[in-house]
Amino acid sequence: MTTNKKIVLKISNLDKFLDKKQILFWVNLEIYDDEVFWFLGPNGAWKTTTMKCILNLINQEVWEIKVLDWYVKDKEIRKQIGFMPENTYLYRHLTWKEFLRFNWKFFDIPNLEEKVNYLMEKVWLSKAGDKLLSKYSKWMLQRVGLAQAIINDPKIVFLDEPMSWLDPLWRKMVKDLVLELKKNWTTVFFNTHILSDVQDICDRFAIIHQWKIIAQEKTSSIKWSLEDYFIEKIEKENEREKGN
Ligand SMILES: Nc1ncnc2c1ncn2[C@@H]1O[C@H](COP(=O)(O)OP(=O)(O)OP(=O)(O)O)[C@@H](O)[C@H]1O
Ligand SMILES: [Mg+2]
Repeated sequence: MTTNKKIVLKISNLDKFLDKKQILFWVNLEIYDDEVFWFLGPNGAWKTTTMKCILNLINQEVWEIKVLDWYVKDKEIRKQIGFMPENTYLYRHLTWKEFLRFNWKFFDIPNLEEKVNYLMEKVWLSKAGDKLLSKYSKWMLQRVGLAQAIINDPKIVFLDEPMSWLDPLWRKMVKDLVLELKKNWTTVFFNTHILSDVQDICDRFAIIHQWKIIAQEKTSSIKWSLEDYFIEKIEKENEREKGN
């Protein structure tokens, strides 16, 4: 990695215990300002939990996590972070406009109305009008979740499974949006299981399995199918664990 890149996210020595059992061992990651970074792992590999540790939504025991040299606990830096959770937590008695306005109150965002309209067009919901979120289907709620994750023009955005169970048109829309974010210097950190879909938009990835990072690579260095690479790494690690 060349040194003139700016580190946006630095995770040093992240350990996590749950019910006295260690579930993350010594996670170390550095994510740079020009990157789309992809966090992979089998179901239940603690990807969402790791993301929540990074975002300081759950406690970590031994750790140092910094975004742009700030500890994530600092309120100042939180304004520059976006997050789309795996299951969007939305206030269902609000319309999408009201919900985005509500989110806006946490940030000092100028031109709110323009921004809200722009975002809803971006995620193809401008025609949903003033419908309450309680009447939205799951995929519509996911779109609102994506819009709220980027309403503050974050320096880094965390997207937890932004493409799951969505049709190819929407998945393409998310991909285009990720590339647009990157062009505007927003670093993107995301989880997905749809490897073939995102191989071409991610710069680097890490695989988490058996409570630790087992691989970190530039996506361009994978000359064969990423799916095959992924399966091979997981199986090798399983063998190694069995041998221990
Ligand atoms: N607070 C908790 N207490 C106990 N178990 C938990 C807790 N949170 C998550 N788990 C369990 O820990 C495992 C890992 O959860 P997590 O959601 O982090 O995995 P993941 O890698 O994001 O999985 P997926 O690919 O399915 O999204 C799961 O088996 C989950 O049921
Ligand atoms: Mg998850």
